[in-house]
Amino acid sequence: MKKGIILYQSKYGATEKYAKWLQEKTGFARMETKKATLTDVQGYDTIILGGGVYAGGIAGLNFLKKHMEKLTDKQVLVFAVGASPYDEKFIAQCKDMQFKDELKDLPLFYCRGAWDMEKMTFLHRKLCTMLKKAVAKQDPATFEPWQTALFEVGEEACDWTDEKYLAPILEELKK
Ligand SMILES: Cc1cc2nc3c(=O)[nH]c(=O)nc-3n(C[C@H](O)[C@H](O)[C@H](O)COP(=O)(O)O)c2cc1C
Repeated sequence: MKKGIILYQSKYGATEKYAKWLQEKTGFARMETKKATLTDVQGYDTIILGGGVYAGGIAGLNFLKKHMEKLTDKQVLVFAVGASPYDEKFIAQCKDMQFKDELKDLPLFYCRGAWDMEKMTFLHRKLCTMLKKAVAKQDPATFEPWQTALFEVGEEACDWTDEKYLAPILEELKK
């Protein structure tokens, strides 16, 4: 039986929810990425790192950028949690932009998260309001999936979290 740890960085709770579900399904340990050190993960065969997506970036990915060289003997996989629906193009862009050098062969999965402007920090709410205004001026035919999601949610709070998104991760763990 493999020993594993789930690292997660979650500002508004969706990534944490996925990390908890994964823990239930795998029996792996779980820890916030911000609190983790290289020593904390070295005793495990598998490391799963999950992070919320903020302005296209996956939170906590720096942990792997910093330590991947010393983790090459382990199974490492990453999942991103964003408001956008699942989109192959986003995954490909993410890999191109953020998975360079040691990270380039890591599998990346996507789980849809949540969106609630009332829960956001003042700065995030301001940023998202500006983004929404910019998107509203665009021709919907040119929207990227995340822009469509932003346009459609309006003022409503949405929660798209669903255990079904974990199925491909659980499949990968069998390898
Ligand atoms: C400032 C900000 C920027 C965001 N940027 C993106 C984005 O680029 N793409 C996306 O799909 N979702 C984006 N989101 C939505 C979050 O990824 C979503 O709310 C997710 O559930 C956050 O994970 P968490 O709940 O674990 O913090 C953004 C949210 C905020 C507050």
